[in-house]
Amino acid sequence: MDSRGLILLQIIVLSSLGAKAFSLSPYYYQNICPQALPTIKKVVQAAVYKERRMGASLLRLHFHDCFVNGCDASILLDPSSTIDSEKNSLANRNSARGFEVIDEIKAEVDRICGRPVVSCADILAVAARDSVVALGGPSWKVRLGRRDSTTASRTQADADLPAPLMDLPALINNFKNQGLNERDLVALSGGHTIGLAQCFTFRNRTYNATNIDPAFAENRRASCPRTGGDANLAPLDATPASFDNAYFNNLVKQRGLLISDQALFSGGSTDDLVNTYRMYPRVFWNDFRKSMIKMGNLKPLTGNHGQLRTNCRMVNY
Ligand code: HEM
Repeated sequence: MDSRGLILLQIIVLSSLGAKAFSLSPYYYQNICPQALPTIKKVVQAAVYKERRMGASLLRLHFHDCFVNGCDASILLDPSSTIDSEKNSLANRNSARGFEVIDEIKAEVDRICGRPVVSCADILAVAARDSVVALGGPSWKVRLGRRDSTTASRTQADADLPAPLMDLPALINNFKNQGLNERDLVALSGGHTIGLAQCFTFRNRTYNATNIDPAFAENRRASCPRTGGDANLAPLDATPASFDNAYFNNLVKQRGLLISDQALFSGGSTDDLVNTYRMYPRVFWNDFRKSMIKMGNLKPLTGNHGQLRTNCRMVNY
């Protein structure tokens, strides 16, 4: 190898080492605070035991964090003179929940660790995994070492969070903008195997759609009138407190609750994958694991970017 080749090799090795130093790792807290992860798990388990739906709400919080400027806990920042809170965005307002549980985890983790060493962004990622496990779903090793943002953007949240009225091309495009592919879209939409949705998010489909099981539509209309009852709840699949593959079974029977759910099985390019997940739950679980890790790695703040918030709702001053 000539000297130019050697220099090039050095650059490649050094830059890959540099990247490694700032990349996420499942063992990030092993020495800093070995009790951090078990503590998060304990609080999540207690919260889910108290109310099964909380597991779903915590999973969704991590998703809504990651899709807006990366997984940086921006979703947790309350409105203030400098913060245009994402809590007020279309998808989150009167909808995102679980903030008190995150506060509780943060307080407990800081107490056990003796100081604020665990980021709010990492808490969201671990709480999402622990929620899925608490509801009977797959487990995975969460990569850790994210730091917290000092800003939030309602405008960005409105632009980047997918809407329940989206058709398949719009959903594919929305995920593509995040570097996620069709397989990630279908696997992660499987998150709707748990949790509930409000009437205003599925009214349109239950009254107007043609690709819907008539008995199912009638049933949903009974709890979601044409006008009023906007906040009435319906399950996103037949077993909303269990992380199973009923969601995909439902889609094949045209019982998807949201337009964006049924779009995944309506004669388009994702039909085959929905069928695969319906028939082989293990394939769904494996893909869900992989896609959650991929989503959790979106644009993390590492090194000396961002900060470790002492209060997840506020920037440190
Ligand atoms: C593909 C595009 C998606 C759209 C359009 C969408 C839309 C929605 C809507 C409208 C709701 C109901 C909110 C309400 O009524 O207040 C909801 C709930 C939920 N979403 Fe999604 N979602 C999508 C993807 C995902 C992903 C990727 C995940 C997680 C990996 C997820 C997890 C959840 C969960 C768990 C709930 C129930 C929350 C609860 O019960 O508190 N969603 N989603």
